[in-house]
Amino acid sequence: MNPLIIGNWKCNPCDSKKTEKLFSEIKKGLPKKLKAKLVICPPFIYLKDLTGRGLEIGAQDCFFQDGPFTGQISVSMLKSLGCKYVIVGHSEKRAAGEKDKIINLKLKSCLEKRLVPILCIGETLKQRKSNQTSKILRRQLEKDLKGIVKKDIESIVIAYEPVWAIGTGKACDPEIAKVVKMMIKKYLRELYKTDKVKIIYGGSVDAKNALEYAEAGMEGYIIGGMSLKPKEFIAILNNFC
Ligand code: PGA
Repeated sequence: MNPLIIGNWKCNPCDSKKTEKLFSEIKKGLPKKLKAKLVICPPFIYLKDLTGRGLEIGAQDCFFQDGPFTGQISVSMLKSLGCKYVIVGHSEKRAAGEKDKIINLKLKSCLEKRLVPILCIGETLKQRKSNQTSKILRRQLEKDLKGIVKKDIESIVIAYEPVWAIGTGKACDPEIAKVVKMMIKKYLRELYKTDKVKIIYGGSVDAKNALEYAEAGMEGYIIGGMSLKPKEFIAILNNFC
């Protein structure tokens, strides 16, 4: 199965000119025979400029309702721009106070409007060191997926993003990622009797380690830092030709 590769630009680049340069360098360098589904997730303000230009574009977040919600961007708005994917529950949003209840509403809104939500879950270093990883991930899944029915679960992508591996250059050992993937699969089998949910990995992915995650059974990636460096990003993509 072709991997799903998400380029998460986070709060970068700082202006339209730099955004245009990054986008066109990635587009120009794309391997001709790329056997992966590539999605670029720029900040909201660049979405309109980048959709419809040959690369799949997604959002880094969303809001679950239209109306009197100052500062929010709703799923309907993202849909109207042509976005098909939305990152939901990224640890950087969770660290800024986003709660599972809100993540759950965002997931439901994406599903209702037929956008693919990429649900991020992951443990902190402290939680890993105190052997709480599986408890934490299970709890996140329970709360985030509450009320989501079987017919919708296969439309969600789950990203295992250990918080300690994000932006640190200390990628998670692929064998650990594999164990976590099996744990998530087991949970989904128990709850939904399905094996079809895509599980991807994020956290310090680079051109050297990317293939190791594919070999460990991860079905794609969220790539932050390296998606801002066209050469490095293309080198990652070149693994999938
Ligand atoms: P990173 O970020 O690749 O810079 O570790 C990944 C992410 O936060 O999704």
